[in-house]
Amino acid sequence: MSTARLHLDPAFTVGPVRRRTFGAFVEHLGRCVYEGIYEPEHPSADADGFRTDVLELTKELGVSSVRYPGGNFVSGYRWEDGIGPREERPVRLDLAWHSSDPNHVGVDEYMAWCEKAGVEPMMAVNLGTRGVQEALDLLEYCNVPGGTYWSDLRRKNGREEPYRITMWCLGNEMDGPWQIGHKTAEEYARLATETARAMRMIDPTIELIVCGSSASDMETFGAWEATVLNEAYEQVDMISAHAYYWEKDGDLASFMASAVNMDHFIDSVTAAADWVRAVKKTDKRIMISFDEWNVWYMDRAESVPPKGDDWPVAPVLLEDHYNVADAVVVGNLLISLLRHTDRVASASLAQLVNVIAPIMTEKSGRAYKQTTFHPFALTSQFARGDVLQVGIDSPTMTTARFGEVPTIDAVATRDPDTGETSVFVVNRALEGETTISIDTRALTEWADTELTGVSASTYAHSDHTWQATADDDATVAVQTNESATREGHTVTVTVPAISWTHL
Ligand code: AHR
Repeated sequence: MSTARLHLDPAFTVGPVRRRTFGAFVEHLGRCVYEGIYEPEHPSADADGFRTDVLELTKELGVSSVRYPGGNFVSGYRWEDGIGPREERPVRLDLAWHSSDPNHVGVDEYMAWCEKAGVEPMMAVNLGTRGVQEALDLLEYCNVPGGTYWSDLRRKNGREEPYRITMWCLGNEMDGPWQIGHKTAEEYARLATETARAMRMIDPTIELIVCGSSASDMETFGAWEATVLNEAYEQVDMISAHAYYWEKDGDLASFMASAVNMDHFIDSVTAAADWVRAVKKTDKRIMISFDEWNVWYMDRAESVPPKGDDWPVAPVLLEDHYNVADAVVVGNLLISLLRHTDRVASASLAQLVNVIAPIMTEKSGRAYKQTTFHPFALTSQFARGDVLQVGIDSPTMTTARFGEVPTIDAVATRDPDTGETSVFVVNRALEGETTISIDTRALTEWADTELTGVSASTYAHSDHTWQATADDDATVAVQTNESATREGHTVTVTVPAISWTHL
């Protein structure tokens, strides 16, 4: 049995736990919108056609914000198609996913759904095939109280009060050659800056997110951030980062250590942003919006990519079925995001329903939880107050991709009002248990209190390839970890290989 030590000290905080860390993403892609959040014929559908079973699971997941409507989809999207009477809305080709979109869900439906789900909206504008004017029109429709063409149209469509959407993404993955309207860093920097400047003339209170890199291995990574921020720095608040991880060629060890890549990615984007800051000699700091992250198996997903003259509505696309190891990686990626709460101001798990998602639905049938649902829901529920720096003394494992990496990774949060402290831990080791001792002396001394109760729950299974289905999404559940004990200032817990634990 191996051992590890963690040291907690409330004097060393990274920053606040931000609710926006627990965002998700709904794109017009596959069955995410249609048959996902919206299915008027479904037995659970409410008067607006939204599946209430999905709404309930979204609440249970603890999602704070939802990015919309894309993704690659947004780069060819005409938002005006999705407003007004449904029967008059056009069906359009969606080039990004070779699908058709009937536009039965548009801005007003998305906003109604956000209100029902209790989530903050995050709206993306199309900077692929469109530009400044269309972004301004959408902002006017959403945020201007009334008395103008677009704001009065919103009122006519049934929404009197402005939506006052705060977060706006200036396009999506514009560095990616697959993107409709793909641009060089220089071209995008000009367009994003001009769009941002004009949008702020309508509503100076909005927060703007400029596109960063689609992955940390993009050829333009680093140079892209520097070029874009050099131009857009004063006009924007955040720069995006996207990352997807999967078990490549059966290399489970490297996959389990995916958060090492996320840590480096965040540190590199921060360095690029701060380099531009130094050049510009400004006090303003650009934050990161990690607005697409997840496990995504390009080869394991259930996916029927349409071709030729076939342009279906809501085809089965990117329907990954996640296993226990995937859930542990998702838990570890959340640990990485929390650990960087000083620079990651917002994040979105991509995506929410059916498409690489923690929630799955059957057409006209059941909704169920994937394995990845659990670490996300519990981290969202228990991460409160401040994020603490955690000293980690861990055994290591050898990985082909990252070399020697610690098997134990962890982050802690502490609510200064209640003193309640949460430690989120993963054991990335492929075999064997690890007993972890947590030194909490500083916690109790600082607060002048005794440590009271200690409880732990663990997500793991002897078969890490176990996947949830509509028939069984509960065989592997988060279980009380009875090994958690306290002696004086030391809390001890034993965690199995490939596991996620909350103490
Ligand atoms: O989330 C799926 C796709 O991944 C998004 O549409 C795109 O932005 C990214 O490449």
